Amino acid sequence: MARRPTSLLRLAVAVLVAAAAAASDARSVTLTLTPPPLPVLPIPSAAQLRWQRREVIMFFHFGMNTFTDSEWGTGSEDPALFRPAALNATQWMDAARAVGASLVILVAKHHDGFCLWPSRYTDHSVRASPWRGGRGDVVREFVDAARARGLDAGIYLSPWDRHDRRYGDEVAYNEYYEAQLHELLTGYGSVSEIWFDGAKGKNATNMTYHFQEWFQTVKQLQRSINIFSDDGPDVRWVGDEKGFAGTTCWSTVNRSMITIGEAGIEKYLNSGDPRGRDWVPPECDVSIRPGWFWHKNETAKPLSQLLEIYYNSVGRNCVLLLNAPPNTTGLVEAADVARLRELWSAVSTIFGTDLAAGSAARASSERGAGFAARNVVDGREDTYWAPAAEDGHGRWDGYWIELRRRSRRPFNVVRVQEHVALGQRVERHAVYVDGAPVANGTTVGHKRLHRLPCAVAGRTVRIWVAAPRGPPLLSAVGLHHDPFDVADAM
Ligand SMILES: *[C@@H]1O[C@H](CO)[C@@H](O)[C@H](O)[C@H]1NC(C)=O
Ligand SMILES: *[C@@H]1O[C@H](CO)[C@@H](O)[C@H](O)[C@H]1NC(C)=O
Ligand SMILES: *[C@@H]1O[C@H](CO)[C@@H](O)[C@H](O)[C@H]1NC(C)=O
Ligand SMILES: *[C@@H]1O[C@H](CO)[C@@H](O)[C@H](O)[C@H]1NC(C)=O
Ligand SMILES: *[C@@H]1O[C@H](CO)[C@@H](O)[C@H](O)[C@H]1NC(C)=O
Ligand SMILES: *[C@@H]1O[C@H](CO)[C@@H](O)[C@H](O)[C@H]1NC(C)=O
Ligand SMILES: *[C@@H]1O[C@H](CO)[C@@H](O)[C@H](O)[C@H]1NC(C)=O
Repeated sequence: MARRPTSLLRLAVAVLVAAAAAASDARSVTLTLTPPPLPVLPIPSAAQLRWQRREVIMFFHFGMNTFTDSEWGTGSEDPALFRPAALNATQWMDAARAVGASLVILVAKHHDGFCLWPSRYTDHSVRASPWRGGRGDVVREFVDAARARGLDAGIYLSPWDRHDRRYGDEVAYNEYYEAQLHELLTGYGSVSEIWFDGAKGKNATNMTYHFQEWFQTVKQLQRSINIFSDDGPDVRWVGDEKGFAGTTCWSTVNRSMITIGEAGIEKYLNSGDPRGRDWVPPECDVSIRPGWFWHKNETAKPLSQLLEIYYNSVGRNCVLLLNAPPNTTGLVEAADVARLRELWSAVSTIFGTDLAAGSAARASSERGAGFAARNVVDGREDTYWAPAAEDGHGRWDGYWIELRRRSRRPFNVVRVQEHVALGQRVERHAVYVDGAPVANGTTVGHKRLHRLPCAVAGRTVRIWVAAPRGPPLLSAVGLHHDPFDVADAM
C-alpha cells in the first residue's frame, strides 16, 4: 500500500517523459528531415530495380541440340532423340546457387521448334519423345525445382521456329506464338523474366513478328515480369555474346533507335545513350563454355576468364546472365558446377572484405541529415551520399568524396555505386589515392568496378565526380583486394 503513491508518481513521470519525447520526435521529423533530391528521369521500375540487384543470373540451354551435338537445329529432328537418362532440375538449381544466382532462365523452345513442355498447339514436343514415357514436362520440373530452392524462374521462347509449318504465314504463326505465350505465362506460376530475340538464319523464311502484341500479352499475364530483347522494354541485350558491356554503360537508351534483330545497333546497345528517354538497362548473356549447348568436346572457361567477364559485366552496370548447359544425361556436368562454385568463391573472397569499412568520410558538401558522406561506407545500398543543392553544377571538379582509411591493407579494386533509383547521373569520375590518380572512367550506374594495375595501400581515397544531369548520389564506395588479379602478380 505504501508503495502506491510512488508507482503512481513514477507512472505520471513516465507518461510526461514519453509525451515530451513524442513531441520532440514529431518536431525533429517535421523540422529537420531533408527530403531526397528530385529524380532525374528516366528512372527504373520496381521490377527493374529488383532485377539489377540480382547481379548474376543463370541461363540453361537444353533441348534437341543437346542430343544432336549442334547449336542450331534444322527443325526436322526426330522427337525420339530427346531422351535424357536422368534429368534432375534440382541439380541445375544447385548449380545456379553455386554461383549465387537468384533467377534461372530456361530455353523452353530453341530455333529447331522442339518444345520442352507438352504444348497443346504442336506435336513437336516432349510429349512425342520417349522421356518419362511422353508424360514429362521440363518447364514444370524446372519451375518447381527453382521454387523449392528459393529461385525465381524465367523463360526463353525462340521466335524463329524452323519446324512449325505456320512459320512464314504471318497471322497463323503469330497466333501460334501468342498461344504458346499463354501456355507458358499462365500455367507455371510467376515468371520473372522472358527472353525474346531476333536470331535467324540468313536463308530463313521471311516472317514479321508481332513483338508489340507479344509484349502487351506478356504484361497482361505477368504483372511484374521483365521483358528482355534488343529493345527491352525492360531489359536490353548488351550487344555481344562475350559478356562485356561498354566501359561507358548507360541504363538509358531511346527505344525508337532500336529494331530487334537488326545488325548495326550493337555499339549503341553496348554503351547506351546519356540522353536516352527510356530506362532499359543491359544484360550480358554469355556461356561458361564455348557453345550455348552442351558438347562432349568442350569444357568450361577458366576462372580468370570468368572473373574478367564478371568485372566487365557486373562491374560495368550490368546483370550477368551466365549459361551452363546440361548434358545428355540431363545434368550440369560436375566440372561445370565446380567452376561456377570457384567463380562465386573468388567473388566472395574479393568482395567479402571491404577495406573501406570503418573509414571516416567527408565530401565537397552534404545535402543534410540522412545524406551524409559516411553513407557510402555503411554497408547499405539504400542509403547514399548527396551533395548540397548548390554544390558542383556539373563542373568536372564539381564534386568529390573522400575516405580516410583505418586499415593500411593494400587494395587493387575500387567499387563505386550510384543510387540509381533516382536516375543514373555520373558522366565522369576519377579515383585518387593519397593525391595520386589510380583510375578514372565515365559512367558508374548500379556498380562500377576498377581493377588497379597494382595494389596500393594509401590512407586517403578521393573520388571526383562530374554529373551534369543532376547531383551525383553515391550509395557505396568499396575497396577490395583481388588475390586472383594477374596484373597484381606482375
Ligand atoms: C537430384 O539432385 C539433387 C541435388 O543434387 C539430389 O539431392 C537429388 O537426390 C537428386 N534426385 C534424384 C532423383 O536423383
Ligand atoms: C543459303 O542459300 C544459298 C543460296 O540458295 C546457299 O548457297 C547457301 O548454302 C544457303 N546457306 C545456308 C546456311 O543454308
Ligand atoms: C525477305 O524479304 C526481303 C524484303 O522484302 C527480301 O529482300 C529478301 O530477299 C527476302 N528473303 C527471303 C529469304 O525471301
Ligand atoms: C534520344 O532522345 C533524346 C530526347 O529526344 C535526344 O536528345 C537524343 O539526342 C536522342 N539520342 C540519340 C542518339 O539520338
Ligand atoms: C565441339 O563440337 C561441336 C559439334 O560437333 C562443334 O560445333 C564445336 O565447334 C566443337 N567445339 C570445339 C571447341 O571444337
Ligand atoms: C553429365 O554430367 C553428370 C554429372 O557430372 C555425369 O555424371 C554424367 O556422366 C554426364 N553425362 C555425360 C553424357 O557426359
Ligand atoms: C585516366 O586514365 C588513363 C589511363 O589509366 C590516363 O591515361 C589518363 O590520364 C587518366 N585521366 C585522368 C583525367 O585522370
